[in-house]
Amino acid sequence: MPYEVKGVVAHSKGAPVTIETIIVPDPGPGEAVVDVQACGVCHTDLHYREGGINDEFPFLLGHEAAGVVSAVGEGVTDVAVGDYVVLNWRAVCGECRACTAGKPWYCFDTSNAAQKMTLADGTELTAALGIGAFAEKTLVHSGQCTKVDPAAPATAAGLLGCGVMAGVGAAINTGGVTRGNSVAVFGCGGVGDAAIAGSKLAGATTIIAVDVDDRKLEWARGMGATHTVNSKETDPVERIRELTGGFGVDVAIDAVGHPAVFEQAFYARDLAGTVVLVGVPNPTMEVTLPMIELFGRGGALKSSWYGDCLPSRDFPMLIDLYLQGRFDLDAFVSETIALDAVETAFEKMHNGEVLRSVVVF
Ligand SMILES: NC(=O)c1ccc[n+]([C@@H]2O[C@H](COP(=O)([O-])OP(=O)(O)OC[C@H]3O[C@@H](n4cnc5c(N)ncnc54)[C@H](O)[C@@H]3O)[C@@H](O)[C@H]2O)c1
Ligand SMILES: [Zn+2]
Ligand SMILES: [Zn+2]
Repeated sequence: MPYEVKGVVAHSKGAPVTIETIIVPDPGPGEAVVDVQACGVCHTDLHYREGGINDEFPFLLGHEAAGVVSAVGEGVTDVAVGDYVVLNWRAVCGECRACTAGKPWYCFDTSNAAQKMTLADGTELTAALGIGAFAEKTLVHSGQCTKVDPAAPATAAGLLGCGVMAGVGAAINTGGVTRGNSVAVFGCGGVGDAAIAGSKLAGATTIIAVDVDDRKLEWARGMGATHTVNSKETDPVERIRELTGGFGVDVAIDAVGHPAVFEQAFYARDLAGTVVLVGVPNPTMEVTLPMIELFGRGGALKSSWYGDCLPSRDFPMLIDLYLQGRFDLDAFVSETIALDAVETAFEKMHNGEVLRSVVVF
């Protein structure tokens, strides 16, 4: 029997989201239905609502979630009813050219549920990042369910499902941040602060937070930033050079996804350093760089999809660190809200009032 639940839907570009009745089908082969316990509000949800990702409206938003598996389809052996899971949006296939080359975190053929969730009138919904977890239940591919220790509350665990993993992974996996490194993180929202916390975890000794909002910079200090720069008031490239003996940082992370910010990250890094782009640009954005600078500075310009994570490897590891008191996931939770407050949470995010609003069910 299909389930009828409430969910948050974006109907058209820029229009406020609404609560709708959603039909969640019984899981088919390889699929699972998850009772969502908590789901964070990520900037990518807002990108969807603004038409910045694609035009496949209506969207069922929400993708940063933890919950309990309540039904599985035929052939599902990796998870079972009752398992406590964090949902991931890159269920690796194990067979594509990236997977067979031993780099499954780049998997080019990740899986989502084959069936669609719909509105009550049958209109098919596009689930944000193949998840759609601003709903009491959601249908996913079983590989999107990563089992973690149920001792971690869903408000904290769910954050690993997107922003926190993306930020930590941008620093540790993509940027290769290690002991003694200097790092600059541009944009100190949930993703940027996670990159700061990840850099601290990896042993970076200089961690420079850059933002245009002083409140965000104060929070960034709490996450492990050793220095902060308000780039509205101070040229961040000059300041970062000053703070690093005139050289620039080993790793510069753009957690905004804006051409001007990417350029700052490009020039703020040391010779042979790495620039990591984890913020998501919109389809119209372009960067122009002098080619001689590209060559002369050496190093690497890398993009970070989901922090180049492997959910099965990285989620349980970060949950263990959390439960040991070594990685403070709770610090990312600014507020817990009800399902009908997602639109207000977007406003708060836009105004810089929160790091993460988390919907609890
Ligand atoms: N690559 C991935 O896999 C992945 C995953 C999740 C989110 N993201 C993306 O990461 C980005 C950040 O997400 P978030 O949830 O942290 O968003 P957020 O809105 O919470 O944070 C963005 C931060 O950037 C700051 N900012 C804005 N303009 C700036 C500028 N010019 N210079 C410096 N700072 C500036 C804001 O003040 C804010 O603190 C978004 O683009 C999101 O879509 C990417
Ligand atoms: Zn693959
Ligand atoms: Zn996200």
